[in-house]
Amino acid sequence: MSDFRVRAYRSADREAVSELLLAQRDRLVAADPRLSPTGEFAEGDGALVVEDDGIIKGYVCPVPYELGPDDPLAAFRPAKGTRWEQLVTTEPRALSLLGETAGSETISLTWPSADRETADHLVEIGLKPSSEYALRPAGPLAAGQASDVTVRPARKEDFPAVLELYRSLMNFEHEISAHIRPTPAAERATCASFDLAVAAREDNFCVVAEREGSVIGFVQGKIADVSFGMFPPGRYAYLDLVAVRQGSRGAGIGRRLVAGTLDALARHEVLGQTLWFNPNNPLSSKFWPAMGFRPILTVFRSGTGR
Ligand SMILES: CC(C)(COP(=O)(O)OP(=O)(O)OC[C@H]1O[C@@H](n2cnc3c(N)ncnc32)[C@H](O)[C@@H]1OP(=O)(O)O)[C@@H](O)C(=O)NCCC(=O)NCCS
Repeated sequence: MSDFRVRAYRSADREAVSELLLAQRDRLVAADPRLSPTGEFAEGDGALVVEDDGIIKGYVCPVPYELGPDDPLAAFRPAKGTRWEQLVTTEPRALSLLGETAGSETISLTWPSADRETADHLVEIGLKPSSEYALRPAGPLAAGQASDVTVRPARKEDFPAVLELYRSLMNFEHEISAHIRPTPAAERATCASFDLAVAAREDNFCVVAEREGSVIGFVQGKIADVSFGMFPPGRYAYLDLVAVRQGSRGAGIGRRLVAGTLDALARHEVLGQTLWFNPNNPLSSKFWPAMGFRPILTVFRSGTGR
């Protein structure tokens, strides 16, 4: 077997890496036609895996990031780490060599969920699925049987109940995945979105489920233009936060809530509905597929414990 080694990217490698990216794009779109990768190569300080004869077998551009304490995103991902961008690999050996270049850094990589083969190799090098970005085609959802529940837009006076549901959701996720943690910045952002939703501004929405005068569930989100990675760009209904009160779960309320929310949003022209969920959450990982959401991109991370 020939030897592989790692070396720094040089601009003379541009054409060869671009060709590999284009071939990879075709393979990924065949695995999931919903994907929209450009296949365009953006030069950076990347690392290459090359064979004895100089043939390129893999490439990655590691981009360090650091989130300040005021960044709401720090509630959902490690505050410091390295994002792997422009990954291209032709075989597992190249991927494991690229993995070795990372040392003890916390890596994250967003990759098409349908590419099961690469997913298996990522797990072998210590990256684990930590977030799923899921997509549902535009259209209504059957509301199910929980007919004693009223689903309606949130009002100002619902704020304490919504905040309590939000806090229990964050604590629940934190117990499952330590890198998800309630932070003051994330709570402030959630409260600000609630205020915008109640004022019907900037396409924010918050919908609650009410039974016998008590709010027992909520959905908060936004109609938004989405454009990142290989996700098909456009306007989507983005469901940011969803929770049903503990003790009321498993009785069809979540389905009714999401169905009612989608009905309330039907006047917006969107390409579909989208959301993030934690694949390690035993409730949401069952609930969202049952609601017709299919993962399209998976975030793999190292060093997050699960
Ligand atoms: C996720 C959550 C909102 C679902 O609400 P719910 O009221 O329990 O869900 P429902 O009873 O309406 O279930 C709807 C469907 O999901 C499936 N489902 C829900 N919980 C499930 C579980 N624990 N195991 C298997 N399937 C489950 C059901 O099979 C059901 O399918 P069906 O309607 O086709 O029969 C709720 O469990 C919750 O608040 N969890 C804690 C917070 C959380 O994880 N939020 C999600 C963040 S992304």
